[in-house]
Amino acid sequence: MAFLHALSLDELAEAAPVRVELDGVPVCLVRIGDSVRALHDMCSHQRWSLSDGEVSGGGVECSLHGSTFDLATGAPSSLPATTPVPTFATRIVDRSVEVDVSVSTNDAPTPSY
Ligand code: FES
Repeated sequence: MAFLHALSLDELAEAAPVRVELDGVPVCLVRIGDSVRALHDMCSHQRWSLSDGEVSGGGVECSLHGSTFDLATGAPSSLPATTPVPTFATRIVDRSVEVDVSVSTNDAPTPSY
């Protein structure tokens, strides 16, 4: 495991996705209270940034075609996407948000195009 600093917790507004790139991996960060979820920032349907979408009901909705991905599991709950996006472990150390992008926590394959 290799946690990398992403940003300060104070830079994340509640339920407002933010894109960062860590070790060459695009990551969509979403703050829920004092915790942060991290998903691969590439929709599994087509090449589109999930951080451009909106968060509601525990998921982030892709702004291109509307599939919603669960923030905890990365699984899509609506078409057209049918496969999950990778999720990553996060931790907060002294208000620093850190993410481990070395391995997905849900074993989803990394999207490739
Ligand atoms: S690109 Fe995300 S649902 Fe189509």
